[in-house]
Amino acid sequence: MVDPSGGFGTPFDAHSPEARAIAELFTATLGVCGVIFVLVAGLVTYCVVRFRARPGDAEPVQIEGHKRLEITWTLIPCVIVLGLFGLTARAMARSDAPPDREPDLVVIGHQWWWEARYPSGAVTANEIHIPSGQDVIIRLESADVIHDFWAPALGRKIDATPGRPVFVRIQADAPGVYHGACAEYCGTQHAWMRFEVVAEEPAAFNAWSARQAAAASPPESDSARRGARLFKDRTCVDCHSVRGLAPAAKAAPDLTHFASRKTLGAGILPNTAEDLYVWLKYPQSIKPGCHMPSLRLTDDETQDLANFLMETP
Ligand code: CUA
Repeated sequence: MVDPSGGFGTPFDAHSPEARAIAELFTATLGVCGVIFVLVAGLVTYCVVRFRARPGDAEPVQIEGHKRLEITWTLIPCVIVLGLFGLTARAMARSDAPPDREPDLVVIGHQWWWEARYPSGAVTANEIHIPSGQDVIIRLESADVIHDFWAPALGRKIDATPGRPVFVRIQADAPGVYHGACAEYCGTQHAWMRFEVVAEEPAAFNAWSARQAAAASPPESDSARRGARLFKDRTCVDCHSVRGLAPAAKAAPDLTHFASRKTLGAGILPNTAEDLYVWLKYPQSIKPGCHMPSLRLTDDETQDLANFLMETP
């Protein structure tokens, strides 16, 4: 399993056929460039030493036009470029094959979070679940500006452009958590537009999808019930939805089953009761410029709202 606290790994840390094709192309290109670098740097060094000017040297022989030399130094780069072109075309065919069927899920980039919508009706944010070992097709959209979807261990990088949906394939060889991020500067909180791809065995994925598709159960504790009222009264409901209790709004992350997520604020905090409290109380201190306003909640109100969200696992 990929370390959830770590970075994105290296370009060689591939966990899917698509990412492997890209990693192989990278390695081959690096190898060719490495050989050229050593050859050129070595020859330059050799010539500087071997042919340096010595006292009393005459003017060296001047060569003007040398067909064989010119053909050689034109042909060699042509062969190298053609070879790299062939390798690139092969990697593209493997990592970027056009979709031949309906997408398995829709991912939408927003300033500054990711929405994932599934045919089952499940909607989640910043945590994209997929079945492991299967070819998954994502239809990628943007709700506002250009974002860029990239989970390096699983596949290629691809822009999410408003009004121009694109398709991307990802596949995870084995269950695990794979990091992703927005890779196109998209405004003040671009750096906190992280996501995780959670690959699970197909049976576990189906169970997750069915659980997420279900509506939230009504809050049980008194505090959570007060929180549910605050959720409606304090305008949370204008942007967020909790299916079954406060549906429809799509401007901000769907918070149905919010408690089941591992992070909040697109990766800026772990999703614990304490961190959720801090986030609800001071969103603009934690993620300055984000579209979550500070609602100036009292301590008790913040606690009630946090309890309400934490009771929707
Ligand atoms: Cu979205 Cu950068």
